[in-house]
Amino acid sequence: MTKDSYILGIETSCDETAASVVKNGTEIISNVVASQIVSQKRFGGVVPEIASRHHVEQITLVIEEALAKAELTPAQLDAVAVTEGPGLVGALLIGVNAAKAFSFANGLPIIGVHHIAGHIYANELMQPMEFPLLALIVSGGHTELVLMEQHGSFTLIGETRDDAAGEAYDKVARVLGLPYPGGPQIDKLAAESDGEIPFPRAWLEPDSYDFSFSGLKSSVINYRHNLEQRGEKINPAHVAAGFQASVVEVLTSKALRAAKEYDVKQVIAAGGVAANKGLRSSLDEVFKNEGIPFYVPPIALCTDNAAMIAAAGSAMFTQGVRGNLAMNGKPGMLLTSWNN
Ligand code: KG4
Ligand code: ZN
Repeated sequence: MTKDSYILGIETSCDETAASVVKNGTEIISNVVASQIVSQKRFGGVVPEIASRHHVEQITLVIEEALAKAELTPAQLDAVAVTEGPGLVGALLIGVNAAKAFSFANGLPIIGVHHIAGHIYANELMQPMEFPLLALIVSGGHTELVLMEQHGSFTLIGETRDDAAGEAYDKVARVLGLPYPGGPQIDKLAAESDGEIPFPRAWLEPDSYDFSFSGLKSSVINYRHNLEQRGEKINPAHVAAGFQASVVEVLTSKALRAAKEYDVKQVIAAGGVAANKGLRSSLDEVFKNEGIPFYVPPIALCTDNAAMIAAAGSAMFTQGVRGNLAMNGKPGMLLTSWNN
């Protein structure tokens, strides 16, 4: 029998300060997330300097709480995994430096995890990955279709050419006067709506797996301006429903075409926008009809958390990937394979 592994994960790339202990890469022992949403709400978005200050205040407490809830001492851990990038540079540095100090003080290996690999590996906490696998990543900073042939191998087959899906949600929510973060607000309004304003779908070239959301965002802004000029009132629910229908149809349709072309065994969704009810049910239905297994983590594991970083870090640990104390935050880090 092989020995159990315990990995501490740390995540500070944006506005959540998070730490978690994961056993054998699949089992969450503790998962602590300190959100800054309340203070960022006042500014209608994430202010990098404020995010960094929050991380500094929270990081030690959050790590201590994750260990206390896991009932483990640092000596019982096997490694510390931390989000190395991409993200806000000041925010990343807090997590990376905390991880380096923890690694040095406790003689533990340190592993630098790509934030998106983390989002993908949130699925490994629910069920084993089967390859080839297609991942649809939809978050505040990313919209990507990634093909995985095996653990740690990532091939980008499509990405956004402008705004990320979550960014479009947040910007449209601002246009509608909804608070930050806008995604959950639009999701709720769309679900309750009794009508829908038709907005365009950006399909791009027929064979492209890329996405574009800035034109859709402009359509919503123009729609509001036109109403204002005519002195008419906007119906936010109808706009939310129309906007969401456009985003969901394009994401679902491109994911389905890619899943068929690459003949994948499994499709997974990941990232904050994968918490969207409309998107979840559309993907669920389409892949059920095609007989292709589709999974999406529970909502708390879709939005930023450290369990996903520990899960990806565990897979890297098993494959012998190690970082060192020269590690730095990488705001523009690319998702490259870790096993070649
Ligand atoms: O993955 P995440 O927590 O942070 C990043 O790595 O970016 O994603 C945050 C994004 C935000 O844009 C937020 O509005 C969006 O995810 N989001 C949603 C929902 N919940 C969060 N978008 C649509 N529907 C939701 N229910
Ligand atoms: Zn994220």
